Amino acid sequence: MDVFIVDHPVAAARLAQLRDEATPPPLFRQALHELSRLLVYEATGDLETNEYEVQTPLGPAPAERLAVPPLLAPVLRAGLGMLGAAQELLPESEVGFIGLRRDEETLEPDSYLTTVPDDLAGRSVLVLDPMLATGGSAEHACRIVRDAKADLVSLVCVLAAPEGIEALEATGLVDQVYTASVDSHLNQAAFIVPGLGDAGDRQFGIQ
Ligand code: PRP
Repeated sequence: MDVFIVDHPVAAARLAQLRDEATPPPLFRQALHELSRLLVYEATGDLETNEYEVQTPLGPAPAERLAVPPLLAPVLRAGLGMLGAAQELLPESEVGFIGLRRDEETLEPDSYLTTVPDDLAGRSVLVLDPMLATGGSAEHACRIVRDAKADLVSLVCVLAAPEGIEALEATGLVDQVYTASVDSHLNQAAFIVPGLGDAGDRQFGIQ
């Protein structure tokens, strides 16, 4: 599993806004949207393209288009805040929703929705979730797309904990992780430190 940390001044500025506890929900959602564009842009750099030709006003020019648009798989709730940016970059992509709620006592993901197609053979998938903490949610989400025979599986997240990366790597389910930061550690409640708090609550306000 390859882990890519997107190191870019604009990404760093948006991440700082997300971390800041004084950032209110409207600005949090906007910063998440903008950072997600940068992360998804980086995560799609190796997608296959087909060549074709277009006619400019001055004659023919070589052109490319995506061979197979990747499936976008936002993990609800917090991944919803990344979906719009991903769709702006990949307007042809289909979307499969994965609804998970981490049980804060057992820390196990509780699944309440899946709309991922049964057959993803030959298709890449971008799993969108701002937070990789213990890795339980990402493992559950990535197992769904792997079971559907997805080709390349990429997890796009804002923040990752070292514990989550290690756990996810051990599953063998994920090819690559794109994140803006690998933070210090998880606290006793399995929150990423220093992190940004709860990405779902900070976007939507209620648990
Ligand atoms: C958060 C976060 C991830 C998950 C990460 O979601 O958005 O999905 O926890 O934790 P893990 O790596 O330990 O599984 P949460 O379960 O709080 O649901 P929400 O998005 O609805 O707030």
